[in-house]
Amino acid sequence: MDSILVTGNGPLNGQIPIAGAKNACLTLMPATLLSEEPLTLTNAPRLSDIKTMTALLQSLGAEVSSLQDGQVQAMSSHDLTSQTADYEIVRKMRASNLVLGPLLARFGHAVVSLPGGCAIGARPMDLHVEGLEALGAEIELKDGYLHAKAPGGLKGGVHEMRFASVGATENIVMAATLAKGTTVLKNAAREPEIVDLVECLRKMGAQISGEGTSTIEIQGVDRLHGATHQVVTDRIELGTYMLAPAICGGEVELLGGRMRLVESFAAKLDAAGVSVEETDKGLKVARKNGRVRAVDVVTEPFPGFPTDLQAQMMALMCTAEGTSVLEERIFENRFMHAPELVRMGADIEVHGGTATVTGVERLKGAPVMATDLRASVSLILAGLAAEGETVVSRVYHLDRGYEHVVRKLEGVGAKIERIKGQ
Ligand code: EPZ
Repeated sequence: MDSILVTGNGPLNGQIPIAGAKNACLTLMPATLLSEEPLTLTNAPRLSDIKTMTALLQSLGAEVSSLQDGQVQAMSSHDLTSQTADYEIVRKMRASNLVLGPLLARFGHAVVSLPGGCAIGARPMDLHVEGLEALGAEIELKDGYLHAKAPGGLKGGVHEMRFASVGATENIVMAATLAKGTTVLKNAAREPEIVDLVECLRKMGAQISGEGTSTIEIQGVDRLHGATHQVVTDRIELGTYMLAPAICGGEVELLGGRMRLVESFAAKLDAAGVSVEETDKGLKVARKNGRVRAVDVVTEPFPGFPTDLQAQMMALMCTAEGTSVLEERIFENRFMHAPELVRMGADIEVHGGTATVTGVERLKGAPVMATDLRASVSLILAGLAAEGETVVSRVYHLDRGYEHVVRKLEGVGAKIERIKGQ
């Protein structure tokens, strides 16, 4: 297994290009299952999760061609051969469950493995099931697989989700595009990735309104046609790299970044003493004056502070002046980066869903282990600011969500290299 060696090397300066959003691409790719005509995505990120989704779609019989070094995904699901998403693939990546809604809508049946737990939580699918049942689906759990059918086709309905689940919103909205009649989805998730999905579905002929608000209305249509769609900028990669100049000093411009994607996050950085300025090319980030100040964080569904930036923000708070309380309200086990940061000299106390961080002047490099995707990059951020060398092992986690992380950080002056595993 590869690892990454980071050596604290002072302020960072320059530009970092931000890629297309992993979490948009992972819901846009299954949308191809809704139509017999080709769907082409541009600005797709080059990540292992995208390769996993490609393998899943191909296992169903879809054609997926990765063009222009992976930045274009040309897909066609004209001749599908299976409606079963196998455990072997789904257990590797939860987002595989996003084929459930499209398969059910187009074919009237689907068999999708439950993903099983992952490092950050149990990750059940009850909200997906409840929403699809509100559209007339009959779903039962057998041998770890959800067996879903809608013999007479799905019917539009009114459904209020108990929690604004991103994935459940995506599955229900995709299914509703081909249901008979109108669907009103209440307490829908508002993430930019959902807005991006709806914009793509609309290009395919779907009739949808309200995306980005808590109530989405979908008029079912008989069929969807092909389209070409540009994947929205990745707000989590954007936020992650915004923290690089915040933790190291210097000034970095994140190309492609837009303030609307990270408003609550940028507000927190501003309160901590980090300036974020929107330019015509992206977002320019720099510390306002020396050491950042501690701020409290509570993770919430969009537009609140993103759970996917909590680990990275904790790394910054480890070097802040004062004490910060970070409350993780979305996942039940998303502080596994904390003990690794403590190995680097951080002062963190975790009690259930709350972590109390008292900032230290300087972290010290140490060998640490990545435990999940976002934890892995928080350790790299800490290593950029630490004294001496930090070796982050198990960086396969990183490859799931960050393309060319060494090249991007080297480009702004970081001392970082990838070490091939045995
Ligand atoms: C999406 O996961 C993202 N993944 C996650 O990003 C992100 O952390 C999460 O949304 C929250 O923003 C993709 O988009 C591929 P949820 P998802 O359904 O859809 C519980 C990353 O690092 N829940 O909003 O799975 C669930 O257990 C990943 O890129 C149920 O209880 O998130 C969790 O506690 C990590 N029942 C909470 O809701 C359900 O049926 C949020 O889950 C579904 C979810």
